[in-house]
Amino acid sequence: MSVSSSSAAPCHLQVALGSRSYPIHIGPGLLGDPQWLAPHLAGRQVMIVTNERVAPLYLARLKAGLADDLEVRELVLPDGEATKTLESVKRIWDALLEAGFNRRATLIALGGGVIGDMVGFAAACYQRGVAFIQVPTTLLAQVDSSVGGKTGVNHPLGKNMIGAFWQPRAVLIDTDTLATLPPRELSAGLAEVIKYGLIRDAGFLAWLEATLPALRDLDAAALIQAIERSCALKAEIVAADETEQGVRALLNLGHTFGHAIEAHQGYGAWLHGEAVGTGMVMAAELSARLGWLPAADVARVREVVAAAGLPLAAPADMAADDFLARMRLDKKNVDSRLRLVLLRALGDACVHAATPPATLNALLEAFPRDG
Ligand code: NAD
Ligand code: GLY
Repeated sequence: MSVSSSSAAPCHLQVALGSRSYPIHIGPGLLGDPQWLAPHLAGRQVMIVTNERVAPLYLARLKAGLADDLEVRELVLPDGEATKTLESVKRIWDALLEAGFNRRATLIALGGGVIGDMVGFAAACYQRGVAFIQVPTTLLAQVDSSVGGKTGVNHPLGKNMIGAFWQPRAVLIDTDTLATLPPRELSAGLAEVIKYGLIRDAGFLAWLEATLPALRDLDAAALIQAIERSCALKAEIVAADETEQGVRALLNLGHTFGHAIEAHQGYGAWLHGEAVGTGMVMAAELSARLGWLPAADVARVREVVAAAGLPLAAPADMAADDFLARMRLDKKNVDSRLRLVLLRALGDACVHAATPPATLNALLEAFPRDG
């Protein structure tokens, strides 16, 4: 499928972090255009890191956007969440050292969130920190993981447990890359887009309710608008709370339930965005049980999640206790106290640390299961 119109105008945002501020460029046809990468290269040494799935699709196009006098190396890693390890990051460091790259090297992450998180972490540590540029090619990475500087890898004992905050020099979002994304991955990205509407912007949520069919049909103008609004909301939150001491935690709406599903099913069985989609419905239903959301608003959450092509039921074999056991390990918890992102209203989220256990249990027991 192709992205419908290449005439949609690009747009530009800024993540405001003082001397570490950086631009986000969004639009069709940006890969391969030298004006977007050149200003953000620290020196002449450039290492592009991508994976075996993305390289044949977009590596040549990206390289066409780099000047001939640069020293460009490339590293193609295997695909998949299973490669998000310290061993893969070591491969990046090995390649940099073997190439003799110095502190003025620039790493370019070409791929989804897995590549972006690993390359950012490799950049954060190489010679105590070098420049990197995010070139995200999944919708999830374009609206979430490429912005905000959370980088890292998985540990056998937990997802994203090893990492650092390290901001990119720029984020280059070429919306044409979404043309090759499998529909299931597109839906997973839409979960994070819906999340922004639910936590911060009821008007955006209403726009999404009307526009999801166009987004799923890869309408270029609609995609740019959705990505721009998502990135603008994320940029605002990151600028206010870079290291997640407060408001940034709201970006985890649906994630506590979602992470429990992902971990219980084994990573990869459910895509992250699919689990977040179901998790957001669970958060909305819990908010209703606390007397915050009317039933009609819960129905809207359910419908928008369904319209994005995301699952509405939890796994059949997942009992309430399975959820609770996983949720107790959530990174947001403080002193063993469960902290959940819930909805006071559509477009208004909060972190709640006082959900009565009986209310949570009742939700977990009653929530629909597959099949
Ligand atoms: P992913 O990187 O695994 O990409 C999904 C699949 O799509 C992969 O097979 C990939 O090779 C393929 N792909 C990428 N671009 C493509 C394209 N244009 N066409 C065809 N196929 C393409 O997964 P993801 O959903 O992009 O990211 C998930 C990762 O992001 C997780 O590791 C998660 O922890 C992380 N994440 C990080 C943050 C953050 O703030 N740093 C936020 C959310 C998620
Ligand atoms: N994806 C959550 C965050 O960046 O904080």
